[in-house]
Amino acid sequence: MQVDRDGNGNLVAWWGTAPSGGVVTGSHLDSVPDGGAFDGPLGVVSGLAAVDRMRSDRVEPERPIGVAVFAEEEGSRFGMPCLGSRLMTGALDADRAAGLRDPTGRVLPDVMNGAGCSPDLGRSDLLHDPAAFVELHVEQGRGLVHAEAAVGVASAIWPHGRWRMEFAGRADHAGSTAMADRHDPMLTFAMTALAANKQARLADALATVGRVEVEPGGTNAIPSRVRAWLDARAPEEEVLQRLVAAIGQQAADRAARDGTSFVLEPESVTARVDFTVALRDQLVGLLGGAPVLATGAGHDAGVLASAGVPTAMLFVRNPTGISHSPAEHAEPADCEAGVAALATALTALSTNSG
Ligand code: HGY
Ligand code: MN
Ligand code: MN
Repeated sequence: MQVDRDGNGNLVAWWGTAPSGGVVTGSHLDSVPDGGAFDGPLGVVSGLAAVDRMRSDRVEPERPIGVAVFAEEEGSRFGMPCLGSRLMTGALDADRAAGLRDPTGRVLPDVMNGAGCSPDLGRSDLLHDPAAFVELHVEQGRGLVHAEAAVGVASAIWPHGRWRMEFAGRADHAGSTAMADRHDPMLTFAMTALAANKQARLADALATVGRVEVEPGGTNAIPSRVRAWLDARAPEEEVLQRLVAAIGQQAADRAARDGTSFVLEPESVTARVDFTVALRDQLVGLLGGAPVLATGAGHDAGVLASAGVPTAMLFVRNPTGISHSPAEHAEPADCEAGVAALATALTALSTNSG
């Protein structure tokens, strides 16, 4: 397969060379810290395995078939999820991306140069205006376990986002500062984390604080600053907005009581994505009535759908539903079923039989 790349760190391997109108599959290879083995890679490997299966079945596509790998889908290094696909589609400004820094303070272009990938950030024609994009992904939930099905089709991605929370207080000595005299940002942060959990439960939504930085980080020093990130998600936009507003308000009220300060900054907010209904229903039919599931997890497929590419997702059963953890798993037989489903979809979409 001919491998092309763009200046955003994205790759695509082509079977066939027509200039546009290809059928593309693929996913990402990056992970969250200590993540699982399937989130991302399953979609890339299954794309390659589906091409192998189509070739052995003597399928002769009338459209090029692409297997794509998008950079930094998790946003684990530069803080912007779906960085590669957002840059490729123009959903993220190249100048903003060029200023993104990793935890060591290195900016994206320098890291790319250091990795031998010359940066040319911004909208790219890597996929040449594809006719369709179908991403296969391990399910991050137990919908297929309940449906007793190996493969499902996605209907939508919930609105979701990540907000940076800055709590600033007064550094002081842990052993000489009376409790009543403290302006401790750790206390304001802790109460905010509790409030986020409670507000999400009340709204039947999701809120997570999984990343915290404390300055200066001394065991015997009251912190001067706590920086934390809120990941919030909800089935509908207004529920998400109300949830984040309620958490922000409670944090501000608590900061006033603690004599600390609080700032909430959106880092990336993603609107709800409803996948292309005709494509979704075509896949459901091709797969003999596969279950249809919404997800709270973001994906590059959501970015391509928002860019106007006819897009669908296939999910492969995950017995425990656990993801973003080494415990993430999919049984070989279910992975095989995913490859077969993807080959069926790519065949239908790239030949007139489709
Ligand atoms: O966090 C997510 O929604 C996905 O795993 N990038
Ligand atoms: Mn993930
Ligand atoms: Mn993923």
